[in-house]
Amino acid sequence: MTGAASGKIAIRGLRKVFADRGGRGGTVALDGIDLDVQEGEFFCLLGPSGCGKTTLLNILAGFDQPTGGEALLDGRRISAPGPDRGVVFQEYALFPWLSVMDNVMFGLIETGTPRPKARETAEQYIALTGLRGFEKSLPHQLSGGMRQRVSLARVLANSPEILLLDEPFAALDAQTRLLMQRELIKIIQSVGKTCFFITHSIDEAIFLGTRVAIMTARPGRIKKILEVTLPYLRDVTSSEFNALKREALKLIEEEVEAAGRQ
Ligand SMILES: Nc1ncnc2c1ncn2[C@@H]1O[C@H](COP(=O)(O)OP(=O)(O)O)[C@@H](O)[C@H]1O
Ligand SMILES: [Mg+2]
Repeated sequence: MTGAASGKIAIRGLRKVFADRGGRGGTVALDGIDLDVQEGEFFCLLGPSGCGKTTLLNILAGFDQPTGGEALLDGRRISAPGPDRGVVFQEYALFPWLSVMDNVMFGLIETGTPRPKARETAEQYIALTGLRGFEKSLPHQLSGGMRQRVSLARVLANSPEILLLDEPFAALDAQTRLLMQRELIKIIQSVGKTCFFITHSIDEAIFLGTRVAIMTARPGRIKKILEVTLPYLRDVTSSEFNALKREALKLIEEEVEAAGRQ
């Protein structure tokens, strides 16, 4: 069955159950998710730990299959990973033995781009992500923030239509995290990609998202979607920002309490 699709990403009645080892029962990670993400949106998915955010992202990436319902990209059911989607994880999925330049060029070379062209494209994204001067460095010589810049550059070099980001800044220290959020906005504005960004940080979601979907505790459903119409770069001390924060916090707190009672 293919339901009516209206978004770039359309999620219809999505359900995911992880079976127990013995085959009895299981964990219902997602249940009845309906969601549309429009082209060019910066969509943030906000929810408490364990509510099913990564499970949803894995289905969108094509790494995992739903138990029920479907996820569509441009009206076509997602069933496998594809070059139209670029994924950035919390852990930097870089090749430790390759330089920054070779990491960024990797996907292009894999897909048959001639070396000079791959290098030219990689240089462009190395510049965009603020990595100029670090082309020859190995990942272990870089800070966490710099490594996430490499992950971003590598994904962007493959020119995906959508970026799927799973708590990409969660392991960074607070200062670096703020810096990377600002950088990400600039980068996304310059490349104009659709973003699906997962976080459990309320501040991060409201700072980045044009819409913020708040999930329920397990099984994950969409509880509410907040529109954030504040222009970039957002003033986190403004009364509008804080009003949104208050609303999101209230919704999340209800879910954390509900999870505590489970
Ligand atoms: N491969 C798996 N096998 C069994 N249970 C899983 C698996 N992946 C996730 N889960 C369970 O599904 C729920 C949602 O997990 P996850 O999507 O990782 O949450 P989040 O990313 O929001 O923290 C959790 O209860 C988790 O333990
Ligand atoms: Mg997760």
